[in-house]
Amino acid sequence: MHRVQPTQNLPGITYSRECYVRLAPGAFADIIHSSMHQPQRLWAISDIHIDSRENHQLLLELSDREFLDDMLIIAGDATDNLQRLLDLLIAMRQKFAIVAFVPGNHELWLAKDSYNHSIEKFEAILNACAEIDIATQPVRFGQADQAVWVVPLFSWYEPDPENPASLFVEKDGVADKTDQVWRDYFLTRWPEAQTGTVSEYFLALNTPHLGLSFDAPVISFSHFLPRRELMFRNDSDNGQDQLNKQDPYPEFNFSRVAGSLDLDRQIRALGSQVHIYGHQHRNRSRHIDGITYISHCMGYPTERETRHLAPNAQQPRLIWQSNTGLNL
Ligand SMILES: [Fe+2]
Ligand SMILES: [Fe+2]
Repeated sequence: MHRVQPTQNLPGITYSRECYVRLAPGAFADIIHSSMHQPQRLWAISDIHIDSRENHQLLLELSDREFLDDMLIIAGDATDNLQRLLDLLIAMRQKFAIVAFVPGNHELWLAKDSYNHSIEKFEAILNACAEIDIATQPVRFGQADQAVWVVPLFSWYEPDPENPASLFVEKDGVADKTDQVWRDYFLTRWPEAQTGTVSEYFLALNTPHLGLSFDAPVISFSHFLPRRELMFRNDSDNGQDQLNKQDPYPEFNFSRVAGSLDLDRQIRALGSQVHIYGHQHRNRSRHIDGITYISHCMGYPTERETRHLAPNAQQPRLIWQSNTGLNL
């Protein structure tokens, strides 16, 4: 790897075009040529679920040359297998100049792990990301006057409908058995001594980023949903939910495990212009009170085949590029 010293710009790291570009032997001339003529681009995807062999292969088949100046956001839910996760992140890091990641709920499952609890595994993931040059903290991407700040936000959901931050919406006429079917309840474990909710724990990790004055537009991302409205389709769904009119799981209430309103408060405190999220396995773009919320979930192959997810969900979505700005 060819590494040039990055410009420090706390609290995150400023990456110039020259930084952290992993070069294959003999590729340097191509990089210089590309840097002189190509815009830098920010891409995003979530819920890549690489335990699906098809998903894994699609990602590995992304071009080794096309994205070398670019940044990729992966907004959680890759796999609960830590080694498989790291191998995938390393592979993406070889294709993109910068890769930013936040764990989703699947990453914190403990089924095959020896961690005492899911926060211990979360910390192991962050430490491993630091070792392989995967960003989990704010990054300034671009050049002086053509740049954005990309801010990862850790999050979880507020499952208690009585909690003011809950996204809960009642379902009519059916007993709620979410806690009997949602796998997180069986596959995650939390420290007994923890005070506050799991969501509050993760959101507290983001507080150092709040109130900072960013010198370029802010694009934030999380795995979980920050607002209730985002769970529902509207005209901007582009018909992707058209085959999803029937509820196949009436006793499962997704709103209990979707996200937290307190996450939205952090997004607004940051001054985000765009927030990328995942988790629901939908492809959406909605503008609400000055912020554009985008989910671009890769999901499972069957979800793409049945059009619950758009066919283009198998590729990252372009969010911003240096010469033209936001791509919403
Ligand atoms: Fe997912
Ligand atoms: Fe998820």
